Formats: sequence, structure tokens, C-alpha cells
Amino acid sequence: MTETKSRSEQLYERALKVMPGGASRNTILRKPHPLYVVRGEGSRVLDVEGVERIDFANNMASLIHGHAHPAIVEAVTAQMGRGTAFTLGTEAEIEYAEHMIGRADSFEKIRFVNSGTEAVMHCLKAARAFTGRPKIAKAEGAYHGLYDFAEISQTAKPATWGAAEHPESVPVAYGTPQGVLDDVIIIPFNDPERAVALLDEHAEEIACVLVDPVPHRVGLIPIAPDFVRTLREWTERNGALLVFDEVITFRVGYGGAQEGHGVRPDLTAMGKMIGGGFPVGALAGRREVMDVMDPLAEKVLFPHSGTFSANPITMTAGHTAMKLYDREAVEKLNALADRARTQIEDAIRVAGIDACVTGAGSMLRVHFKPEPPTEYRTAFIGPDETKLLTAFLDHLFANGIILINTGTVMLSTVMTEQDIDTLSEAMLGGFRTARELLA
Ligand SMILES: Cc1ncc(COP(=O)(O)O)c(C=O)c1O
Repeated sequence: MTETKSRSEQLYERALKVMPGGASRNTILRKPHPLYVVRGEGSRVLDVEGVERIDFANNMASLIHGHAHPAIVEAVTAQMGRGTAFTLGTEAEIEYAEHMIGRADSFEKIRFVNSGTEAVMHCLKAARAFTGRPKIAKAEGAYHGLYDFAEISQTAKPATWGAAEHPESVPVAYGTPQGVLDDVIIIPFNDPERAVALLDEHAEEIACVLVDPVPHRVGLIPIAPDFVRTLREWTERNGALLVFDEVITFRVGYGGAQEGHGVRPDLTAMGKMIGGGFPVGALAGRREVMDVMDPLAEKVLFPHSGTFSANPITMTAGHTAMKLYDREAVEKLNALADRARTQIEDAIRVAGIDACVTGAGSMLRVHFKPEPPTEYRTAFIGPDETKLLTAFLDHLFANGIILINTGTVMLSTVMTEQDIDTLSEAMLGGFRTARELLA
């Protein structure tokens, strides 16, 4: 019998034997099997079947300069020859810390870790250590990584989410202790009145309010000025901290999405693009708060460490990437995204389908809804929309375009206007394909 299986199918069969679901991260899974990469270069990715695609996912928003950027490859290669990790300090860490502190007014001190999950976890632990309080508050549906407390209600569904004026704390993982659920207060995004009423119920016990200024899973809708102001005022008034999750959104401005709001969070979690393509996280913020981690203090409130934290490979890659992502690069990339949003809105009109685009800076998301959602419950993708979205994504994939599976695009600085034209043209085909399902 002749072998008819593709190389990707063969690889996936092997993968299924050794990893649950055949992978270490669910995001690579596609039906009927994932595709495997040979090489990435700039905005292009070549798979083992020999097909090249434009990569608008950029490893879930972590590659701000696309794949294998020459300056990053050169800097990291040089550092590799000098060693990858030490039980001693490196100047690379200090140089990168100095650079990052200079990017945002709210950054007085910084520590590097290895993932966005870790960065958020350390912000929450720092907030608890600083305030001596047990609870945190977060927006319903917002994804902040995998720490028990940070993930509550990320996947809440109509059957579990409860009344809008009193959202339930819904576990993601089976076995989440009741104590964790009790210590997470769920607030609706961009609804200051309801949020304050919920926060007031636990005012004395809340260590921090954790918020993403453009939360992807909540619809990639920018935080409303009155919501962010309300959270800042409420936290100040009640002795709690305001924590921003800028793991994805730091790309929106030179100093992150916070730059445009005139509000200083006490702590900011970062990750993804600040690693220059390598695993990374960081938390930065107010000196007194960050100093809960100070091992030189008489009483160390939050002992913190990590074997690979601030390793010189990540520091070198990250610093090179962020130096390249200067104010001019941020502006140029955001303008490219504006062009994409306009063209996609045109494509929606031409295809005559109920859909819309949300986003900020160099991020955008397509929704199969007539109006942009306003918070998690209106952004929620029901079964009918899932069908449309799947047909849309499959069409794009078959036509040489990789998107994040929520219909989200994350641009990189190596993309061109031509790439955007190709994207919107492919999307027009995708909208038409989805429209046919409605006929
Ligand atoms: C907003 C946000 N916070 C935290 C995380 C967790 O980051 P990591 O996957 O590096 O642990 C993510 C990852 O997608 C994220 O989007």
C-alpha cells in the first residue's frame, strides 16, 4: 500500500503518542491536525508541506519584528557563544532594565521573569504582600495567563456566569480550590457603576484590581477612559493597588497602552514581545511596591527568584527588539493597522455580512456581530458565530494567511502595505465564504 499521509499527519501521529492532545500548547492545534514549521523569515512561515503563509499571529503577539530578525539573530548568536545562563549577574540585565524603566512614567523598578503568566502571578503576590490583603478583582473573561487566581472566569459561559450585576467566580480548571474562587471578585469590563458596587462589597479585603487595557478575550475593546479613571480612584481611595496586564498591549504605545490614559498603574505585567522572540515576563512599577521583593530589606515580604529569570539570551534579544521598537516604529506600525482596519471594514460592507472590527494600535479582531461588543458577554462567541468564524479562518488559512483563532491579527514591523492588501483581499473571500453559510 502506498503511503498517502502528509508529513504533518505523520508528525501528529507521533506527537499524539507522547503528549496529551499531541502538543505542549493547545494554540498550535488545528483540525484535523496541526501543521509543522520548517522555517520562519520576516512575515513569512514555511510549513513541512512546502506551503508559505503570511503570519498575522506572530506567535500569539510575541514577535513584534516577525521571524528571525537579522539584528536579533546576530545579537543572540554572539551572546550564545559567551554562555546562555549563569549563577552570576550580567550587564545585559542591567542595560535592559534601564531601557525599560525609561519607557513608561509608572516604571520605577523592574524585575524580569520567564512568562506572562509568571509576570501576572508576581504582580498579584506583590500586591497581596504590600497590602496584607487576600482578594483580587479582575474583569470577566479576561485572559491573564494560568495562575489560579488570574484565570478565574476567563472561560465563563452563559450557563455559569450568573447575573450581570453579580458575576460568578467560575473556575477554569477542575479542582480549583473554593478558597481561590472566594478570593477573586469578578467585575464587568467597562462598566464603572457595576464594578464599583461589586468592589465596595469587599473594599477592606481587596489587594488589587487587575485589568488589561485592551483585553483580547473580552473582545479586544479598548478600556474606556471613565472605567480606567474609576478604577484608579477606587483603588486609591480604598488602599488597593491598580495592576495593568500589558503582556500583549505594551505594543500599543512606546510606553504601553497606559501611555494614552494619563493614569499610572501601581504595577504593570509584561511579556511576549519584550522577549524579542524568547520566553519572557516582567513586572514594573512603583518603587515601594516593587521593593516587597527586595532581598536586602530587614523583612522580605515577597521572596522571589527564578532559575532562568533575566538570562542573557532573553535580555539580549528583548533589548535589541525594544530598541528597534522606538516611537517612530510604533507610530508606523499603528498606522499600518489603521489601514488594515479601514480595508477590512470595506470588505465587510462589500461582502454584505454582519461583522465588525475592534482593536487598538497594531492589534485588530474580527467579530461576526453587527456591532462591536462592549464587554465579555457581548463578545462571547456562540455556536452560530463559531461556524462562521471557523469557515472564515479556514478560508484564510487555505489562502496563505495565518490568524489567531479568535479572528485576531497581530501585526509586525516587517509587514508592508502589500501584506495588508493581501490580508484584506483574503478576508473579503473569507467573509463571502461565511456569508454563504447564512444563505
Ligand atoms: C494578556 C495576557 N496576559 C498574560 C498572558 C500569559 O502569558 P504567557 O503565555 O507568556 O504565560 C497572556 C498570554 O496570551 C496574555 O495574553
